[in-house]
Amino acid sequence: MQVKKEELTIDQIIHQALDSLSQASTVDQIKILQAHYLGRKGLITQFLRSISTMPQDMRPAAGKKVNEAKQVFEEKLKERTAYLEYLASKNDAGIDVTLPGRFSPYGTLHPITQITNEICRIFRSIGFQIVEGPEIETDYYNFEALNIPKDHPARDMQDTFYVSDSILLRTHTSPMQIRTMKKISPPLRIIAPGKVYRCDSDITHTPMFHQVEGLMVDKYISFADLKGILTLFVHEMFDPSTSLRFRPSFFPFTEPSAEVDIRCVMCKGAGCRVCSQTGWLEVLGAGMVHPNVFRNVNYNTDTYSGFAFGMGVERITMLKYGIDDIRKFFENDLRFLGQF
Ligand code: PHE
Repeated sequence: MQVKKEELTIDQIIHQALDSLSQASTVDQIKILQAHYLGRKGLITQFLRSISTMPQDMRPAAGKKVNEAKQVFEEKLKERTAYLEYLASKNDAGIDVTLPGRFSPYGTLHPITQITNEICRIFRSIGFQIVEGPEIETDYYNFEALNIPKDHPARDMQDTFYVSDSILLRTHTSPMQIRTMKKISPPLRIIAPGKVYRCDSDITHTPMFHQVEGLMVDKYISFADLKGILTLFVHEMFDPSTSLRFRPSFFPFTEPSAEVDIRCVMCKGAGCRVCSQTGWLEVLGAGMVHPNVFRNVNYNTDTYSGFAFGMGVERITMLKYGIDDIRKFFENDLRFLGQF
Protein backbone atom coordinates (compact mmCIF):
# COMPACT_ATOMS: atom_id res chain seq x y z
CA MET A 1 0.00 0.00 0.00
CA GLN A 2 1.56 3.24 -1.10
CA VAL A 3 0.23 6.51 0.23
CA LYS A 4 1.31 9.83 -1.22
CA LYS A 5 3.95 11.34 1.01
CA GLU A 6 2.39 14.81 1.11
CA GLU A 7 -0.61 13.36 2.86
CA LEU A 8 1.29 11.60 5.64
CA THR A 9 1.89 13.04 9.12
CA ILE A 10 5.17 12.20 10.87
CA ASP A 11 3.22 9.86 13.20
CA GLN A 12 1.95 7.90 10.26
CA ILE A 13 5.40 7.73 8.65
CA ILE A 14 7.09 6.39 11.78
CA HIS A 15 4.29 3.91 12.38
CA GLN A 16 4.62 2.58 8.85
CA ALA A 17 8.42 2.51 9.10
CA LEU A 18 8.46 0.47 12.32
CA ASP A 19 5.84 -1.89 10.96
CA SER A 20 7.85 -2.69 7.81
CA LEU A 21 11.00 -3.03 9.89
CA SER A 22 9.46 -5.70 12.11
CA GLN A 23 8.52 -7.68 9.00
CA ALA A 24 11.92 -7.44 7.36
CA SER A 25 13.50 -10.90 7.34
CA THR A 26 16.87 -10.21 5.69
CA VAL A 27 19.60 -7.65 6.13
CA ASP A 28 19.09 -6.61 2.46
CA GLN A 29 15.45 -5.78 3.10
CA ILE A 30 16.53 -3.59 5.99
CA LYS A 31 18.92 -1.69 3.74
CA ILE A 32 16.07 -0.92 1.34
CA LEU A 33 13.94 0.35 4.24
CA GLN A 34 16.80 2.49 5.46
CA ALA A 35 17.06 4.17 2.05
CA HIS A 36 13.30 4.54 1.81
CA TYR A 37 13.04 6.44 5.09
CA LEU A 38 16.46 7.87 5.88
CA GLY A 39 18.08 8.23 2.43
CA ARG A 40 18.59 11.58 0.69
CA LYS A 41 15.07 11.38 -0.72
CA GLY A 42 13.72 9.30 2.17
CA LEU A 43 10.38 10.07 3.78
CA ILE A 44 11.79 11.10 7.14
CA THR A 45 14.55 13.17 5.54
CA GLN A 46 12.05 15.02 3.37
CA PHE A 47 9.84 15.66 6.31
CA LEU A 48 12.77 17.18 8.18
CA ARG A 49 13.52 19.42 5.21
CA SER A 50 9.90 20.55 4.94
CA ILE A 51 10.10 22.06 8.42
CA SER A 52 11.87 25.14 7.07
CA THR A 53 8.75 25.96 5.06
CA MET A 54 6.52 25.88 8.12
CA PRO A 55 5.38 29.01 9.99
CA GLN A 56 8.11 30.16 12.36
CA ASP A 57 6.26 29.32 15.59
CA MET A 58 5.53 25.70 14.58
CA ARG A 59 9.11 24.81 13.67
CA PRO A 60 10.63 23.95 17.09
CA ALA A 61 7.86 21.51 18.07
CA ALA A 62 7.79 19.85 14.66
CA GLY A 63 11.58 19.58 14.58
CA LYS A 64 11.68 17.94 17.99
CA LYS A 65 9.02 15.45 17.05
CA VAL A 66 10.66 14.39 13.77
CA ASN A 67 14.07 14.03 15.40
CA GLU A 68 12.63 11.85 18.12
CA ALA A 69 10.83 9.68 15.59
CA LYS A 70 14.00 9.40 13.54
CA GLN A 71 16.00 8.34 16.59
CA VAL A 72 13.51 5.62 17.48
CA PHE A 73 13.57 4.28 13.95
CA GLU A 74 17.37 4.27 13.80
CA GLU A 75 17.59 2.36 17.06
CA LYS A 76 15.08 -0.28 16.00
CA LEU A 77 16.88 -0.59 12.71
CA LYS A 78 20.16 -1.36 14.45
CA GLU A 79 18.50 -3.89 16.75
CA ARG A 80 16.75 -5.73 13.95
CA THR A 81 19.93 -5.83 11.86
CA ALA A 82 21.91 -7.31 14.74
CA TYR A 83 19.23 -9.93 15.34
CA LEU A 84 19.06 -10.98 11.69
CA GLU A 85 22.85 -11.13 11.47
CA TYR A 86 22.89 -13.34 14.57
CA LEU A 87 20.36 -15.75 13.05
CA ALA A 88 22.32 -15.85 9.81
CA SER A 89 25.58 -16.64 11.65
CA LYS A 90 23.88 -19.46 13.56
CA ASN A 91 22.66 -20.99 10.34
CA ASP A 92 26.14 -20.65 8.83
CA ALA A 93 27.55 -22.58 11.77
CA GLY A 94 25.11 -25.38 11.07
CA ILE A 95 23.10 -24.75 14.24
CA ASP A 96 19.39 -25.37 13.93
CA VAL A 97 17.73 -22.91 16.33
CA THR A 98 14.41 -24.70 15.94
CA LEU A 99 15.67 -27.93 17.59
CA PRO A 100 14.26 -28.65 21.09
CA GLY A 101 16.57 -27.83 24.04
CA ARG A 102 18.80 -30.38 25.77
CA PHE A 103 17.32 -32.41 28.63
CA SER A 104 18.69 -31.38 32.03
CA PRO A 105 18.54 -34.23 34.52
CA TYR A 106 16.41 -34.00 37.67
CA GLY A 107 18.14 -34.09 41.05
CA THR A 108 17.10 -36.58 43.74
CA LEU A 109 17.21 -36.43 47.51
CA HIS A 110 20.40 -37.85 49.03
CA PRO A 111 19.87 -41.46 50.23
CA ILE A 112 20.61 -40.36 53.82
CA THR A 113 17.90 -37.69 53.57
CA GLN A 114 15.49 -40.22 52.07
CA ILE A 115 16.03 -42.76 54.86
CA THR A 116 15.89 -40.04 57.56
CA ASN A 117 12.55 -38.95 56.09
CA GLU A 118 11.35 -42.56 56.06
CA ILE A 119 12.34 -43.11 59.71
CA CYS A 120 10.55 -39.90 60.71
CA ARG A 121 7.48 -40.88 58.70
CA ILE A 122 7.22 -44.24 60.51
CA PHE A 123 7.51 -42.70 63.98
CA ARG A 124 5.21 -39.79 63.15
CA SER A 125 2.56 -42.32 62.17
CA ILE A 126 2.55 -43.58 65.79
CA GLY A 127 2.41 -40.16 67.42
CA PHE A 128 6.07 -39.11 67.71
CA GLN A 129 6.95 -35.46 67.14
CA ILE A 130 10.08 -34.38 65.24
CA VAL A 131 12.48 -32.06 67.11
CA GLU A 132 15.87 -30.68 66.10
CA GLY A 133 18.74 -29.11 68.03
CA PRO A 134 22.27 -27.73 67.80
CA GLU A 135 25.27 -29.65 66.47
CA ILE A 136 27.61 -27.52 68.58
CA GLU A 137 26.76 -28.58 72.13
CA THR A 138 27.88 -28.00 75.66
CA ASP A 139 29.60 -30.66 77.69
CA TYR A 140 26.59 -30.49 80.00
CA TYR A 141 23.97 -31.60 77.45
CA ASN A 142 26.22 -34.05 75.61
CA PHE A 143 27.63 -35.79 78.72
CA GLU A 144 26.94 -34.41 82.18
CA ALA A 145 23.13 -34.35 82.12
CA LEU A 146 23.13 -37.78 80.49
CA ASN A 147 24.78 -39.28 83.56
CA ILE A 148 28.26 -39.26 82.03
CA PRO A 149 30.32 -37.25 84.56
CA LYS A 150 33.87 -36.04 83.84
CA ASP A 151 36.40 -38.89 84.09
CA HIS A 152 33.65 -41.42 83.45
CA PRO A 153 35.19 -44.17 81.31
CA ALA A 154 32.20 -44.00 78.98
CA ARG A 155 33.59 -40.74 77.58
CA ASP A 156 36.28 -42.82 75.95
CA MET A 157 33.62 -44.65 73.95
CA GLN A 158 33.12 -41.50 71.91
CA ASP A 159 36.09 -39.68 70.49
CA THR A 160 34.98 -36.12 70.90
CA PHE A 161 35.85 -33.05 68.82
CA TYR A 162 36.23 -30.23 71.35
CA VAL A 163 35.69 -26.56 70.48
CA SER A 164 36.78 -25.51 73.97
CA ASP A 165 36.83 -27.10 77.43
CA SER A 166 33.07 -27.04 77.76
CA ILE A 167 31.93 -26.76 74.13
CA LEU A 168 32.05 -29.61 71.64
CA LEU A 169 30.53 -31.10 68.49
CA ARG A 170 27.77 -33.41 69.72
CA THR A 171 28.85 -37.04 69.61
CA HIS A 172 25.27 -38.35 69.56
CA THR A 173 21.70 -37.02 69.33
CA SER A 174 21.01 -37.95 72.98
CA PRO A 175 21.44 -34.32 74.21
CA MET A 176 18.06 -33.77 72.54
CA GLN A 177 16.55 -35.96 75.28
CA ILE A 178 17.65 -33.40 77.86
CA ARG A 179 16.79 -30.35 75.76
CA THR A 180 13.28 -31.69 75.15
CA MET A 181 12.57 -32.76 78.74
CA LYS A 182 13.76 -29.41 80.08
CA LYS A 183 11.27 -27.69 77.80
CA ILE A 184 8.15 -29.83 78.05
CA SER A 185 6.59 -32.00 80.73
CA PRO A 186 5.45 -35.60 80.19
CA PRO A 187 3.80 -37.37 78.48
CA LEU A 188 6.00 -36.98 75.40
CA ARG A 189 7.06 -38.88 72.33
CA ILE A 190 9.84 -37.36 70.22
CA ILE A 191 12.19 -38.22 67.38
CA ALA A 192 15.36 -36.12 66.91
CA PRO A 193 17.24 -36.60 63.62
CA GLY A 194 20.55 -34.86 62.90
CA LYS A 195 24.28 -34.80 62.29
CA VAL A 196 26.75 -36.03 64.92
CA TYR A 197 30.56 -35.99 65.03
CA ARG A 198 33.26 -38.39 66.21
CA CYS A 199 36.97 -38.43 65.55
CA ASP A 200 36.91 -41.68 63.62
CA SER A 201 37.42 -42.68 59.97
CA ASP A 202 37.44 -46.03 58.12
CA ILE A 203 35.09 -48.01 55.85
CA THR A 204 32.36 -48.10 58.50
CA HIS A 205 33.05 -44.74 60.22
CA THR A 206 33.11 -41.13 59.04
CA PRO A 207 33.89 -38.12 61.28
CA MET A 208 30.37 -36.81 60.60
CA PHE A 209 27.38 -39.11 60.39
CA HIS A 210 23.65 -39.04 61.10
CA GLN A 211 21.62 -40.37 63.99
CA VAL A 212 17.99 -40.49 64.93
CA GLU A 213 17.15 -40.30 68.63
CA GLY A 214 13.85 -41.48 70.06
CA LEU A 215 12.34 -40.79 73.49
CA MET A 216 9.02 -41.69 75.01
CA VAL A 217 8.01 -40.76 78.56
CA ASP A 218 4.67 -41.41 80.24
CA LYS A 219 3.13 -43.20 83.21
CA TYR A 220 3.65 -46.99 83.17
CA ILE A 221 6.08 -47.13 80.22
CA SER A 222 7.89 -50.46 80.32
CA PHE A 223 10.53 -52.35 78.38
CA ALA A 224 7.64 -54.11 76.61
CA ASP A 225 6.64 -50.75 75.06
CA LEU A 226 10.20 -50.26 73.86
CA LYS A 227 10.23 -53.73 72.29
CA GLY A 228 6.84 -53.24 70.68
CA ILE A 229 7.66 -49.89 69.12
CA LEU A 230 11.11 -50.88 67.86
CA THR A 231 9.68 -54.11 66.41
CA LEU A 232 7.04 -52.12 64.57
CA PHE A 233 9.75 -49.77 63.28
CA VAL A 234 12.00 -52.57 61.98
CA HIS A 235 9.08 -54.33 60.30
CA GLU A 236 8.09 -51.09 58.51
CA MET A 237 11.65 -50.17 57.58
CA PHE A 238 12.85 -53.56 56.38
CA ASP A 239 10.49 -56.50 56.02
CA PRO A 240 7.53 -57.53 58.24
CA SER A 241 9.15 -60.95 58.63
CA THR A 242 12.46 -59.58 60.02
CA SER A 243 13.32 -61.04 63.46
CA LEU A 244 14.80 -58.86 66.21
CA ARG A 245 17.14 -59.71 69.06
CA PHE A 246 17.61 -57.59 72.20
CA ARG A 247 21.09 -58.07 73.70
CA PRO A 248 21.99 -56.72 77.17
CA SER A 249 24.34 -53.75 76.86
CA PHE A 250 25.44 -50.62 78.69
CA PHE A 251 24.79 -46.90 78.28
CA PRO A 252 25.17 -44.51 81.23
CA PHE A 253 21.85 -42.82 80.44
CA THR A 254 19.69 -45.96 80.25
CA GLU A 255 19.12 -48.81 82.70
CA PRO A 256 18.60 -51.51 81.69
CA SER A 257 20.22 -51.03 78.29
CA ALA A 258 20.12 -53.12 75.16
CA GLU A 259 21.57 -53.33 71.72
CA VAL A 260 19.10 -54.38 69.08
CA ASP A 261 20.07 -56.74 66.26
CA ILE A 262 18.04 -57.74 63.23
CA ARG A 263 18.32 -60.95 61.23
CA CYS A 264 20.89 -60.33 58.50
CA VAL A 265 19.07 -58.78 55.55
CA MET A 266 21.64 -60.24 53.13
CA CYS A 267 21.84 -63.92 54.11
CA LYS A 268 18.64 -64.15 56.20
CA GLY A 269 20.64 -65.64 59.05
CA ALA A 270 22.71 -68.23 57.19
CA GLY A 271 25.92 -66.29 57.87
CA CYS A 272 27.77 -64.04 55.40
CA ARG A 273 30.51 -61.41 55.15
CA VAL A 274 28.14 -58.53 56.02
CA CYS A 275 27.07 -60.08 59.35
CA SER A 276 30.53 -61.59 60.01
CA GLN A 277 28.95 -65.06 59.86
CA THR A 278 26.76 -64.36 62.92
CA GLY A 279 23.46 -64.06 61.04
CA TRP A 280 22.67 -60.87 63.00
CA LEU A 281 23.22 -57.13 62.38
CA GLU A 282 23.31 -54.50 65.11
CA VAL A 283 21.02 -51.56 64.28
CA LEU A 284 20.19 -49.68 67.49
CA GLY A 285 21.14 -48.78 71.03
CA ALA A 286 18.25 -48.46 73.48
CA GLY A 287 17.09 -48.73 77.07
CA MET A 288 14.89 -47.43 79.87
CA VAL A 289 15.72 -43.81 80.80
CA HIS A 290 18.08 -43.78 83.81
CA PRO A 291 16.55 -42.22 86.98
CA ASN A 292 19.55 -39.85 87.22
CA VAL A 293 18.64 -38.44 83.81
CA PHE A 294 15.06 -37.84 84.97
CA ARG A 295 16.38 -36.15 88.12
CA ASN A 296 18.56 -33.83 86.00
CA VAL A 297 15.44 -32.52 84.24
CA ASN A 298 13.24 -32.52 87.36
CA TYR A 299 10.92 -35.31 86.25
CA ASN A 300 9.27 -37.26 89.05
CA THR A 301 10.76 -40.75 88.92
CA ASP A 302 7.93 -42.24 91.01
CA THR A 303 5.29 -41.20 88.49
CA TYR A 304 7.07 -41.39 85.17
CA SER A 305 9.16 -43.86 83.26
CA GLY A 306 10.36 -43.93 79.68
CA PHE A 307 12.59 -45.41 77.06
CA ALA A 308 15.13 -43.98 74.64
CA PHE A 309 16.87 -45.30 71.58
CA GLY A 310 19.39 -44.10 69.05
CA MET A 311 20.31 -45.37 65.60
CA GLY A 312 22.78 -44.51 62.87
CA VAL A 313 21.10 -43.49 59.62
CA GLU A 314 24.11 -44.47 57.46
CA ARG A 315 24.06 -47.96 58.95
CA ILE A 316 20.32 -48.42 58.30
CA THR A 317 20.74 -47.09 54.74
CA MET A 318 23.71 -49.40 54.04
CA LEU A 319 21.74 -52.41 55.24
CA LYS A 320 18.63 -51.44 53.33
CA TYR A 321 20.45 -50.99 50.03
CA GLY A 322 23.40 -53.39 50.46
CA ILE A 323 26.07 -50.64 50.41
CA ASP A 324 29.45 -51.79 51.73
CA ASP A 325 31.42 -48.55 52.18
CA ILE A 326 30.07 -45.64 54.25
CA ARG A 327 32.38 -43.16 52.49
CA LYS A 328 30.32 -43.48 49.29
CA PHE A 329 27.64 -41.31 50.92
CA PHE A 330 29.99 -38.34 51.13
CA GLU A 331 31.90 -38.48 47.84
CA ASN A 332 29.10 -36.77 45.87
CA ASP A 333 29.48 -39.15 42.93
CA LEU A 334 26.26 -38.69 40.91
CA ARG A 335 26.59 -42.20 39.44
CA PHE A 336 26.19 -43.53 42.99
CA LEU A 337 23.66 -40.99 44.28
CA GLY A 338 21.46 -41.22 41.19
CA GLN A 339 20.56 -44.86 41.99
CA PHE A 340 18.27 -44.07 44.92
N1 PHE B 1 23.52 -42.32 72.15
C1 PHE B 1 23.84 -43.70 71.96
C2 PHE B 1 24.99 -43.81 70.95
O1 PHE B 1 25.25 -42.85 70.25
C3 PHE B 1 22.66 -44.48 71.45
C4 PHE B 1 21.55 -44.55 72.46
C5 PHE B 1 20.55 -43.60 72.47
C6 PHE B 1 21.51 -45.57 73.40
C7 PHE B 1 19.52 -43.67 73.39
C8 PHE B 1 20.48 -45.68 74.31
C9 PHE B 1 19.49 -44.71 74.31
O2 PHE B 1 25.62 -44.83 70.82
